Amino acid sequence: MNRILKIIKALRACISIFVLSAFFTSCSPEEKEDTGNSLTQLIRPKHFPVAHYTHSNNPYTREGFELGKRLFFDPILSRDTTISCASCHHQSHAFADRGIALSIGIKGGVSSRNSPPIFNMAWSKSFMWDGGINHIEIMPFAPIINPKEMDDNLNNIIRKLNQHPNYPKLFQTVFRKTNIDDQQLFWALAQYMSNLVSANSRYDLFIAGKENFTTSEMKGLKLFRQHCESCHKEPLMTDYGFHNNGLDEQFKDQGRYRISQNEIDLGRFKTPSLRNVELTAPYMHDGRIASLSEVIEHYSSKIKSSPTLSSPLGEHVGGFQFSDEEKDALVDFLHTLTDEEFITNKALVYP
Ligand code: HEC
Ligand code: HEC
Repeated sequence: MNRILKIIKALRACISIFVLSAFFTSCSPEEKEDTGNSLTQLIRPKHFPVAHYTHSNNPYTREGFELGKRLFFDPILSRDTTISCASCHHQSHAFADRGIALSIGIKGGVSSRNSPPIFNMAWSKSFMWDGGINHIEIMPFAPIINPKEMDDNLNNIIRKLNQHPNYPKLFQTVFRKTNIDDQQLFWALAQYMSNLVSANSRYDLFIAGKENFTTSEMKGLKLFRQHCESCHKEPLMTDYGFHNNGLDEQFKDQGRYRISQNEIDLGRFKTPSLRNVELTAPYMHDGRIASLSEVIEHYSSKIKSSPTLSSPLGEHVGGFQFSDEEKDALVDFLHTLTDEEFITNKALVYP
């Protein structure tokens, strides 16, 4: 009961964030500029569309980004101070988990879905595989209160932060308030997460005319545009929509339906971006597919029919029947989406 009251209280605090943000219109994106060990400016690549999250009531500052980064890597956000956000979101894997299907949280708890990578979140309108969270500024609430992930509550975290030797000063510098509250916590984390931007893969250089593709990569890109791009939309490689890509006939995890209660959403999940996909195995919402070649095999010969199967997959019952050469070409193309700079940039990790 106590927990439910706390959740309601926290949600109320968040509603004020939505109301406030409705009053602001979007501001124009700035150019990328990144130096040394911190990000000095908002990163909004020229070839990306305008971001959904505009920082309208949470202005980007270098100190805010740094504070969010420190919090993301600090186990203080879990009940027994053993688990940080970074425990399940590793830079070397584009901030997905390290090669495991389901993540391990507090006291060995197992999360219910595969930990997705974190980048280009400023363009996402919803979060989680079922889109159950619709604002980046409340996103951290879910793992914090999840009994299998961090199992803490906001009152406790805010108390710990206010008693900490360093945090009160750091928060004051960014938000100019005497006490740390939950809104400031969410704002700081949003400043960090919304500026984890991955836009410097070989694909991006190719689009900018600065890099050539091999024959196989070109062939892969062509096939991709023919069969995959409707959902994995360029240049973000996702439409941020919800689709059923034919994994099952019956759904153990109901996906988007859990949120919408609309039958058409049974077994539909948020389209994952394919940027950095080489680094984020295993694949799908439950991590059921181990490798990229097996994912291609799924689309080639294993698409399962069900009433909610999304088009254009429905027109290719069974699969696209790719030749071996085409399968290799698709994998070669997907490898061009790896962004080495993003996974090695020291400015994105604490300390
Ligand atoms: C125990 C592992 C674990 C921890 C700790 C954890 N996460 Fe996650 N994270 C996950 C899993 C699993 C999902 C997917 C959950 C789902 O879809 O139901 C996820 C989803 C997300 C997403 C959504 C990404 C998307 O594309 O929709 C974001 C953002 C995120 N986590 C940020 C955080 C932050 C911030 C923290 C710390 C406050 C955190 N995570 C702590 C495992 C974890
Ligand atoms: C109808 C929309 C749609 C089409 C078309 C589509 N996908 Fe997907 N794709 C999805 C969805 C939705 C998921 C996540 C499904 C899940 O986890 O239940 C996904 C998952 C993936 C993944 C796993 C990513 C991860 O992080 O787990 C890869 C790789 C992938 N698709 C590649 C492709 C390729 C290659 C094609 C074309 C041959 C393609 N997709 C066509 C919607 C689509």
